[in-house]
Amino acid sequence: MAELARSTVLVTGAGGRTGQIVYRKLKERSDRYVARGLVRTEESKGNIGGADDVFVGDIRDTSTIVPAIQGIDSLVILTSAVPKMKPGFDPTKGERPEFYFEDGAYPEQVDWIGQKNQIDAAKAAGVKHIVLVGSMGGTNPNHPLNRLGNGNILIWKRKAEQYLADSGIPYTIIRAGGLQDREGGIRELLVGKDDELLQTETKTISREDVAEVCIQALQVEEAKFKAFDLASKPEGVGTPTKDYKALFSHITARF
Ligand SMILES: NC(=O)c1ccc[n+]([C@@H]2O[C@H](COP(=O)([O-])OP(=O)(O)OC[C@H]3O[C@@H](n4cnc5c(N)ncnc54)[C@H](OP(=O)(O)O)[C@@H]3O)[C@@H](O)[C@H]2O)c1
Repeated sequence: MAELARSTVLVTGAGGRTGQIVYRKLKERSDRYVARGLVRTEESKGNIGGADDVFVGDIRDTSTIVPAIQGIDSLVILTSAVPKMKPGFDPTKGERPEFYFEDGAYPEQVDWIGQKNQIDAAKAAGVKHIVLVGSMGGTNPNHPLNRLGNGNILIWKRKAEQYLADSGIPYTIIRAGGLQDREGGIRELLVGKDDELLQTETKTISREDVAEVCIQALQVEEAKFKAFDLASKPEGVGTPTKDYKALFSHITARF
């Protein structure tokens, strides 16, 4: 049988908690993929092994990400503004933590401009597919996450999703539920639309499972031009998802 040509995939936010899983999985599947990662700092590069296929760049500055994007077939976007906790709160007094974003690192700059920069650079480089990980909750402008650090994070994420859907590049938009650092591959995955899953008891998903869905989206044609919410049933309920073609085939929404 003829060998499949390997596909070069860049994952951005490759030092992040989900991004590093995607990067690792791509490296493990080297028969099929040539992996690349983009991280923001040399320190993050070191944290994920420091290989030559890890590029250092800042998505707010297009010129720094172009070298990583040149020559790739597909892009997985896993960058996100990261809220920081204000120091000095005392949980023993029932105080709740407050969050803030650093200057220049608000969701507007990272989740909107930064994602837009990646999409534009990918389009210019002829990238054939973009997988973007966003978040559930974006249909509700009053979602509490928008108040976090006054960042309107879900609003800016959704704007970037819309930009991708309008870009003409084949895309897959994954709006994840609450992320958990748990084992993957052992739960039944659920896809939904318009935040309907948020009204149910099943609204979380492991980062391992999100990472696997990103990679499956790269290789299953039915994932293209689709946007969906993603969660999972609790462990032990239902049947662990193995058939990703069937999963993606259930999705009809383009945005
Ligand atoms: N937490 C949840 O429950 C939840 C729920 C649903 C969806 N999501 C979304 O799912 C995605 C993955 O989440 P996660 O928790 O795995 O991500 P994460 O660990 O917060 O990683 C985000 C990554 O983005 C990078 N980044 C930030 N600004 C950048 C810039 N200007 N240039 C280059 N890279 C930059 C960060 O790099 P540095 O480490 O250098 O800052 C970090 O590695 C995110 O979009 C998140 O919003 C999260």
